[in-house]
Amino acid sequence: MGMSSSPLLRIWKALLLLQFVTGALGWGKEGHYAVCKIAESSLQFQAYLNEDATAAVKELLPEYADGDLASLCSWADTMNFRYHWSSALHYVDTPDFFCNYDFARDCHDSSGHRYACVTAAIYNYTDQLKSEYHNPGAVTNYNLTEALLFLSHFVGDVHQPLHVGFLGDLGGNTIIVHWYTRKANLHHVWDTSIIESAMKDFYNSDLTTMINSIQSNITDNELPLWGDCEGNQTVCPNVFASESISLACKYAYRNATPGSTLTDDYFLSRLPIVEERVAQAGVCLAATLNRVFASKVQIAESRR
Ligand SMILES: *[C@@H]1O[C@H](CO)[C@@H](O)[C@H](O)[C@H]1NC(C)=O
Ligand SMILES: *[C@@H]1O[C@H](CO)[C@@H](O)[C@H](O)[C@H]1NC(C)=O
Ligand SMILES: *[C@@H]1O[C@H](CO)[C@@H](O)[C@H](O)[C@H]1NC(C)=O
Ligand SMILES: *[C@@H]1O[C@H](CO)[C@@H](O)[C@H](O)[C@H]1NC(C)=O
Repeated sequence: MGMSSSPLLRIWKALLLLQFVTGALGWGKEGHYAVCKIAESSLQFQAYLNEDATAAVKELLPEYADGDLASLCSWADTMNFRYHWSSALHYVDTPDFFCNYDFARDCHDSSGHRYACVTAAIYNYTDQLKSEYHNPGAVTNYNLTEALLFLSHFVGDVHQPLHVGFLGDLGGNTIIVHWYTRKANLHHVWDTSIIESAMKDFYNSDLTTMINSIQSNITDNELPLWGDCEGNQTVCPNVFASESISLACKYAYRNATPGSTLTDDYFLSRLPIVEERVAQAGVCLAATLNRVFASKVQIAESRR
């Protein structure tokens, strides 16, 4: 992501970016990369998170990922065509103008199929990974590499405020605004535009610099606050979804009616929200993977 690339390389990168933009269903590629990168560094460097999870993640990653979960953090977005059923798993919508989230009421797809939503998907893939590690050697029908990649992606998605938006505007997808001089839909602004503008304006167009800055901002108090789940649950996606719709109402939808032009006022006041949600998602993913894979150690020890 350096600035010194050749013109051809830059065109190629722009095309690549465009491809993600048009197919965007989650945070953009940068946002997801940042979430997984923060999770990985937390896994490696924070005493709070353990080595077993790092080892288990490396074992599950395909060889071409070269041990880097972040490189495949947008894998789930590329699977929407092949696994058509998975495209409903990136979000959950609330009834129009409801600024709260209710699993029983909201977790379904547009045809009303229950549990086809991001929070159920997070439970699903957490359970798949966990059950395998509770019953090592048991034959499962699940591809745990895919479970890991889906989980890592959906934990990111559920933290994007407009992935828990209103049904009527499809989480901001049908709200057409101008992002500075360019036409964009509000959902895309939150997936991608805010992060891209921040990279350009504040981080020398370098994603790594932005990630480092977000990560070094995380305090020791925030780690347990963002990583722990009440009552020792392995994962608590309903909490993240509630936070997201609340932020969507307070920040994303506010002053962003159809046809409005969003500039510095909107950008500068919303950027801290985006950066905090990316940080929270990264910490949350690391803590979740830690709990998922820690069960293996506990079970193995209790059998000795
Ligand atoms: C759970 O995961 C399996 C395997 O990927 C998938 O077929 C199923 O649709 C998922 N269910 C939910 C509710 O996400
Ligand atoms: C599991 O999924 C990954 C990613 O889709 C794929 O590369 C791999 O071949 C799958 N493994 C099995 C055993 O099907
Ligand atoms: C959570 O787990 C710890 C350690 O296993 C235990 O001491 C504690 O009582 C548990 N808390 C709840 C609310 O279940
Ligand atoms: C760092 O934290 C402060 C205070 O919460 C916030 O205003 C700022 O936007 C954060 N910066 C980054 C890069 O996360």
